[in-house]
Amino acid sequence: MKDKFVVTIAGGGSTYTPGIVLMLLENMDRFPIKEIRLYDNNAERQGLLGEACRIMVSESHPGVAFSYTTDPQAAFTDVDFVMAHIRVGLYEMREKDEKIPLKYGVVGQETCGPGGIAYGMRSIAGVLELVDYMEQYSPNAWMLNYSNPAAIVAEATRQLRPTSKIINICDMPVAIEGIFADILGLASRKDMNVRYYGLNHFGWWTSITDKAGNDLMPALKKHVAEHGYCSQTEDFQHKAPSWIATFKKAKDLFALDPQTLPNTYLKYYFYPDYEVEHSDPNFTRANEIVIGREKEVFDMARHIVERKSAREAHFHAGAHATFIVDLACAIAFNTQERMLLIVENNGAIANFDETAMVEVPCLVGANGPEPLAMGRIPSFQKGLMEQQVAVEKLVVEAWMEGSYQKLWQALTLSKTVPSASVAKAILDELIEANRDYWPELR
Ligand code: NAD
Ligand code: G6P
Ligand code: MN
Repeated sequence: MKDKFVVTIAGGGSTYTPGIVLMLLENMDRFPIKEIRLYDNNAERQGLLGEACRIMVSESHPGVAFSYTTDPQAAFTDVDFVMAHIRVGLYEMREKDEKIPLKYGVVGQETCGPGGIAYGMRSIAGVLELVDYMEQYSPNAWMLNYSNPAAIVAEATRQLRPTSKIINICDMPVAIEGIFADILGLASRKDMNVRYYGLNHFGWWTSITDKAGNDLMPALKKHVAEHGYCSQTEDFQHKAPSWIATFKKAKDLFALDPQTLPNTYLKYYFYPDYEVEHSDPNFTRANEIVIGREKEVFDMARHIVERKSAREAHFHAGAHATFIVDLACAIAFNTQERMLLIVENNGAIANFDETAMVEVPCLVGANGPEPLAMGRIPSFQKGLMEQQVAVEKLVVEAWMEGSYQKLWQALTLSKTVPSASVAKAILDELIEANRDYWPELR
């Protein structure tokens, strides 16, 4: 076993990169790093965040080698872990994903509904390219991938790179579990054991206990029935007003099935009319981020570069960064930590498609994730998940075959879309907007 690791962050110009670099530095005692590299295909974004991170690393850990590059060979040679979070098309294209469906009265969202489908059609090639670079230059490395839409990306890598060492992950359950811990007055979400099943951004908690096995669900349900997922915690990543509204809305999601606790993303499928009514078609989440999170991160980078120091003003890191470092640590040191990951079902959900990419608890060690059995699921969740997984599979098939028909079917099948005619109108406009990114559809 190695005692020091080399990590490449792909999507080095991402708003999440500084937080992950910070988290890697803060966790050197349990996950020792000898080198951090950033890789991006956009030299400008990479340059600014790269310089700021270089200052941060050299000030606090001068012994850690640091570099940033747009050259895949330099980025991917002799690495142990690739932590990936790319956004193909940047916020400019996310804005279109959100605004085009809204024109037709349909949910406009990064990963759900037509916007998520459009983003999936862009992301697949980008993520496959990263996997191929990693396998070419570092055949033994692992890719821990946050790049969205994770459900579609996971299905694409399952089909097209079935033996690759890529693990697709999401931080939403982790963030919500942080809120659960806060509601319960626990110091950390790691004080809980959870059972959960679903697809990415489409799942439910069925059991939450403390480490002694005591059932914590009744207390949580009582809180959620009244307040949704609102708590006192300052969640750095989800602090915008739109996120606070999302956490409140969990109350209405919970009302549909008081046996379980829902993932917040279910709001786009259960209450699409409400979501559309409460959206501004001229100012969506992409716009909010460009003047919010993205501006904050890049302003901070400029500040650090100007002062040549990150000692006083510095970046933030939260559950998002902790989770990916925990995952790397689990693989590196075979810790067998229990973590929610996106994996091929293979019976983990007994009465569900074996080939579906599902999100379930797994034990993680040196050979990757071992999914835990979540048993049989009820008709309500099963019906919803079957519809949604078919959407995700159709998108990947449409991408592989260049099939207009299958993509139209995918949009029509999405629970967020009211009819085949609306699906077609949105699809035709999305095709125009995505000419530079999608395969040609026939
Ligand atoms: P961002 O636009 O700030 O950063 C993405 C970076 O990726 C950009 O610098 C861009 O130049 C780069 N990029 C795009 N295509 C690339 C390619 N082919 N090769 C290399 N680099 C490429 O986006 P962000 O808001 O920081 O988010 C980054 C990604 O992380 C998004 O996909 C987002 O949805 C995802 N994310 C996922 C989760 C999750 O739960 N899975 C959580 C948070 C963020
Ligand atoms: C959650 C989800 C991610 C998503 C992120 C940011 O953490 O799990 O998949 O990318 O939120 O969403 P935002 O709308 O703030 O960019
Ligand atoms: Mn997610």
